Amino acid sequence: RTVYVNGDYLPEDEAKVSVFDRGFLMADGVYEVVSVLDGKLLDFDGHLARLNRSLDALEIANPLADADYLAAHRELVARNGITDGLIYLQVTRGNPGDRDFAYPPKDTRPTVVMFTQSKPGLADQPAARTGWKVASVEDLRWGRRDIKTVQLLYPSMAKMEAKARGCDDAWLVEDGKVTEGSSNNVYIVKDGVIVTRELSHDILHGITRAAVLRLAKEAQMRIEERSFTIAEAQAADEAFATSASAFVMPVVGIDGVSVGDGAPGPVAKRLREIYLEESR
Ligand code: PDD
Repeated sequence: RTVYVNGDYLPEDEAKVSVFDRGFLMADGVYEVVSVLDGKLLDFDGHLARLNRSLDALEIANPLADADYLAAHRELVARNGITDGLIYLQVTRGNPGDRDFAYPPKDTRPTVVMFTQSKPGLADQPAARTGWKVASVEDLRWGRRDIKTVQLLYPSMAKMEAKARGCDDAWLVEDGKVTEGSSNNVYIVKDGVIVTRELSHDILHGITRAAVLRLAKEAQMRIEERSFTIAEAQAADEAFATSASAFVMPVVGIDGVSVGDGAPGPVAKRLREIYLEESR
């Protein structure tokens, strides 16, 4: 696999980053994941806009122009022969020297890394036909989840906890309300109304969320942006999650309770279809 590091395209085992990089020492950096279907990038502009917002929030000067990111994404797709898959992009603060809690000087060059993950048939993922079972886990992440940082230890722990409980993903709960999945935004559907948590610092402002809500509005579906409890979700007609890698994923069970009839629901199925249809 050919990967990108600071302007160079290298075989993955020749790519190098400093051990002093603050991404490595302090999770001081941000990332994006863009999906590729039939060689085409999905929602690229949205992901780049959010990358810029995340960098601004952390006062990391963006080392590249938007056009450079697009060119690098296309180059990696071509060099790695990606038809369907994901492109991971990470920008960390870098670090010229020693470990220090204070940020290094403003002229420090951030580290930019990009790589591809080939996933043939990504849009036809079998999980979308059966749906995910999820387990509720307390949300112990920090308070700025709107910044897409590489600080992913807690989501990993929550996912492991969910897997230990025989589930596919975790639904994170704070103050009795669901925030997000471990790496996706979440929704329930009751009496034809799609309910999803409102945007704030508490959740990542999903690019797929924005696209799916726009498509739902265009299809005259009703939407309520508010938080909900696990009990409300268990009693809903259906549930689903969205992300760049899962698209629209039906959720069919929560903490051992079937949602609706325990099969992917019609709203989730329809939104998945129209989202993928528009992406092609
Ligand atoms: N995760 N919420 C969290 C906590 C996420 O990590 C993600 C994405 C989302 C969905 O955002 P989007 O629709 O922009 O992908 C919501 C990516 C896919 C990941 O970490 O692999």
